[in-house]
Parts: sequence; C-alpha cells; structure tokens
Amino acid sequence: MDLLEVMRKRRSIRNYTDEPVREEDLQKIIQAGLLSESGKAKRPWQFIVVRNKEVLEYLSRCREGGVKMLKEAQCAIVVTGDAEAQDVWVEDCSVAMANMHLMASSLGVGSCWIQGRLRKADEKTTEEYVREKLKFPENYKLEAILSLGMPAVKMPAYDLEELDMDKVRVIE
Ligand SMILES: Cc1cc2nc3c(=O)[nH]c(=O)nc-3n(C[C@H](O)[C@H](O)[C@H](O)COP(=O)(O)O)c2cc1C
Repeated sequence: MDLLEVMRKRRSIRNYTDEPVREEDLQKIIQAGLLSESGKAKRPWQFIVVRNKEVLEYLSRCREGGVKMLKEAQCAIVVTGDAEAQDVWVEDCSVAMANMHLMASSLGVGSCWIQGRLRKADEKTTEEYVREKLKFPENYKLEAILSLGMPAVKMPAYDLEELDMDKVRVIE
C-alpha cells in the first residue's frame, strides 16, 4: 500500500478486543519511533513500553478525560523526552508518536494518542502522576502515551476529495 493510502486509512482507535498485540508488530511500532527524525539528531526520547495490566489500569487514571481506552488497551508506549538534552524535545517526541501511530495503523493495530504534557490528574500534573509509577528521571518530561490494541471498531477512511484545501496557501 502506498504511504498516502496508509495515511488516508489511519484513524484514532479507542476500543480494543482482548486479542494481544503481536510481539513482532510491537517491535515494528517501536522501530518506527526510533527511526524518527530529530533536531540535530539528538533523539532525546525514552519510550516506556507497558504491557502490565495493572500499570495500564493505573495509567487510565492519569487524566480527567480522554484516557479511558487504556483500560482496554493491551499495551501502551509512554513517550518521554530529555528536556535538558534537547530544546525541541516536544517536536521530536511528537514526530516519534506520529510515526508509531501510523506504523500501528499500517499493521492493523489500533492506537490512539493520549496527551500527557500540559494535562492534569486531580491535584497533580499528569506527568507527576505517571512518573510516580514509572520512575523516569526529572529531566525526562512526559509528552504523550500511545495506547495500543487490536481494533474492536472500524473507523472510516478519509476521502482525499474532502480534505480542507482552504488550509493551504500557495505563493507563486
Ligand atoms: C496532540 C494530540 C493530542 C491528542 N490527545 C488525545 C487524547 O488525549 N485523547 C484522545 O482520545 N485522543 C487524542 N488525540 C487524538 C485526536 O482526538 C484525533 O487525532 C482526532 O480526533 C482526529 O481523529 P483521527 O485521528 O481518527 O483522524 C490527540 C491527537 C493529537 C495529535
């Protein structure tokens, strides 16, 4: 399938079956993240791969909303970036998130971006809440969590004819 076709079919999937994500697919998803471009090639990220159901349940309370899918997820990849090593760690980690999400979709694995940075869990920030369990160092900041599981829903592909071309300005 050509890349544009993969992108057309990519959707955020928030409902998963009980079927596990195959180890070889998970490895490809991680490789897609590790292959991402990065400012000055610093690659400041650390991916924390969570397969433990109790930890996934804990993570499903890391935010006030938009995170329930972690209860059903078979796996999650917590993306953190070293803010001391890289000024553009947010951009770097976002590229890695997007590449892993797209790779998952191309393999038929459902996934969804769960925003962590700038979000809150009750009294704490989402980052503080997640760090308490996963124990990543202070210089590593939380970007987002990619939930993963085999899709329990089918979302429609996008139609190229319906793309909002008003968002594009051409200067000739
Ligand atoms: C920066 C960013 C943050 C997002 N945060 C969440 C989130 O916290 N929870 C969620 O369910 N979806 C989240 N999403 C997924 C978007 O809701 C989704 O991409 C959008 O609704 C378009 O749907 P699609 O991905 O199926 O095209 C996020 C996506 C991005 C790029």
